[in-house]
Amino acid sequence: MQEEKSFQFTYRLIHHWNALEEADQSLVKDAFAAMENAYAPYSKFKVGAAALLENQEVICGSNQENIAYPSGLCAERVALNYAGAAFPGIAVRVLCIVAKGDLMPMDQLLSPCGGCRQVMLESENRQKSPIRIIMVNQDGSTMMLEKVQDLLPFGFGSFQ
Ligand code: THU
Repeated sequence: MQEEKSFQFTYRLIHHWNALEEADQSLVKDAFAAMENAYAPYSKFKVGAAALLENQEVICGSNQENIAYPSGLCAERVALNYAGAAFPGIAVRVLCIVAKGDLMPMDQLLSPCGGCRQVMLESENRQKSPIRIIMVNQDGSTMMLEKVQDLLPFGFGSFQ
């Protein structure tokens, strides 16, 4: 017996992040500021992440590379791990990700790597509430997703 199933999700495209609502714009600015603290001498690709927590704290991260390449960490994981360490049990409501560098064309969608999706998914599953994702491309165009589950439908340990 076979059963065909499908997965569908909706995402929002916005021509520029300055069209977002004020609170989201503020988070984008925080992510851009965090991006400047990236340590990325090897890839020269700077990534910033800003997480808005349910207690209104904003926790920022940036990618931190290492000469032993796999020892470096992505911006999203720096931010989420920091949030978990500093504010255990406090849910993340929104995560904004921005980047700059030649690794990607200006208009290409900035989308988190698989490892970060898995970490984001675990935060979402653990807190049992969705994390909204805002991804700002280098040309300012923006994509918004309602939950991490949409970025990683069959993530390890994710049951739906
Ligand atoms: N990077 C992130 O910070 N987030 C991602 O989702 C993908 C990639 C970083 C890792 C590395 O420092 C640089 O971007 C180039 O891959």
